[in-house]
Amino acid sequence: MKDKPVHLEEDYEFLVNGYSHQGEGIGRMDNFTIFVPGVISGERVRVKISEAKKNFARGRLEEIILSSPFRVEPRCPVYNFCGGCQLQHIVYEKQLEMKKEIVENALGRIGKQNIKVLPTIGMKDPWRYRNKGYFQVNQEKGRIRLGFYKAGSYDFVPAAECVLFSMQINRLVSYLEDQLSLQKVTVYHSKTGGGNLRNVLIRESRSRGEIMIVFFTKEDNLGFDQNFLNDLAKTFPQVVSVYQNINRNPKAVLLGKDFRLLKGEPDLEDALGPFRFKISPQSFFQVNVAQAEILNEKVLEYANLSGEEIVIDSYCGTAAISIYVAKQAEKVYGIEVEKSAARDAIINCELNGISNLKLFTGKVEGWLYKWRRSGEEVHLMIVDPPRRGCSLKALQGIIKIKPRKIIYVSCHPATLARDLKYLTKDGDYKLKKVLPIDMFPQTSHIECLAYLKR
Ligand SMILES: C[S@@+](CC[C@H](N)C(=O)[O-])C[C@H]1O[C@@H](n2cnc3c(N)ncnc32)[C@H](O)[C@@H]1O
Repeated sequence: MKDKPVHLEEDYEFLVNGYSHQGEGIGRMDNFTIFVPGVISGERVRVKISEAKKNFARGRLEEIILSSPFRVEPRCPVYNFCGGCQLQHIVYEKQLEMKKEIVENALGRIGKQNIKVLPTIGMKDPWRYRNKGYFQVNQEKGRIRLGFYKAGSYDFVPAAECVLFSMQINRLVSYLEDQLSLQKVTVYHSKTGGGNLRNVLIRESRSRGEIMIVFFTKEDNLGFDQNFLNDLAKTFPQVVSVYQNINRNPKAVLLGKDFRLLKGEPDLEDALGPFRFKISPQSFFQVNVAQAEILNEKVLEYANLSGEEIVIDSYCGTAAISIYVAKQAEKVYGIEVEKSAARDAIINCELNGISNLKLFTGKVEGWLYKWRRSGEEVHLMIVDPPRRGCSLKALQGIIKIKPRKIIYVSCHPATLARDLKYLTKDGDYKLKKVLPIDMFPQTSHIECLAYLKR
């Protein structure tokens, strides 16, 4: 058998000439692929091999021999250590081009689609856009800190200076660190199963400046009392809702089902364009509101509705897209599996005076099968699944329903490409447009819209 052209812990020099769909640079030695984070296409680099598999390797950047003109100084003090952002070293306009290129490559290679992807719609100010942070908790010498785990490890990275959150969230993170450190709070330790506080979730409404906090614990006891909550409310009157979520299972990584409202309102209220949205702690809501508004407007533009259409919004969440569409269609059917999001969707319809949206709580897969028997003609099907994309059963259901148009909203180009391959395989649907919208600046995550016509 031929020996691999690269070996673990050895250095190699090569030209970077492309990107993986996770935003890592790609270089080659004798046609053997090497993935390297933190580099830019066109750069010549020296890399130490950190992982060598049969068909590819991964490397750590050791030296930039020829630097790209698009390289910039990252804003974040812990950028090279954290791993939460992958593209801060690239000037923003180039990040947008790169995302378009990644989508085009995925569609060609995985999806067998030969299409020119539209230029990515970026943000004017691509910083501090995140309205939600899910923080790990760390305790060292009694001092509690909120942060993240370094990508691929359990190394703790503090979050208080994160450049993706608003200054308000950062101030709140510092405040919680100071105040929780003065309480009888113990931090959960996954290896021993000891301690109590597991995570802290902070959600922020950009339209109202209001905040929701969830403390995730293992036990009922929080380690702080009402005085802590009263002081929090005095210092941060913007905090309108505080929850506790209890998960007694020491091994569980998922959220517990048990949410207890400790103080304030059950929901946070935010807005997208002219519409109001109530959001409960578990419900999906886009993390970048400014770009979500553009995305929803683009869905409307591609849908080109006259007011007489039947629309299905599958994977509808809190009805963020359904409500935009319902104003211009005859009837919208929304489908959502998560009970709390479906409940929020119903409340949101009432809040926005929408009476032509019918909501079903359950899985898209089962619902589409039942729907087929109704025989109603569907003009538009909106598909906005999680990163894993649609199941085969869901794709089969969509094809059997034969909507005239499909608008697929995707947060993962590889699964989008796979699903588009299936939807276009028999020639019933043609892919007309693909538009990336940068929902996650500075990171390698990519959101895009694909528009198909029967
Ligand atoms: C990416 S979010 C989209 C939400 C919404 N379209 C929006 O713009 O806010 C995906 C949603 O699909 C829901 N979901 C996941 N799998 C599902 C399934 N098999 N059937 C129905 N809903 C599902 C999730 O709970 C989540 O709310």
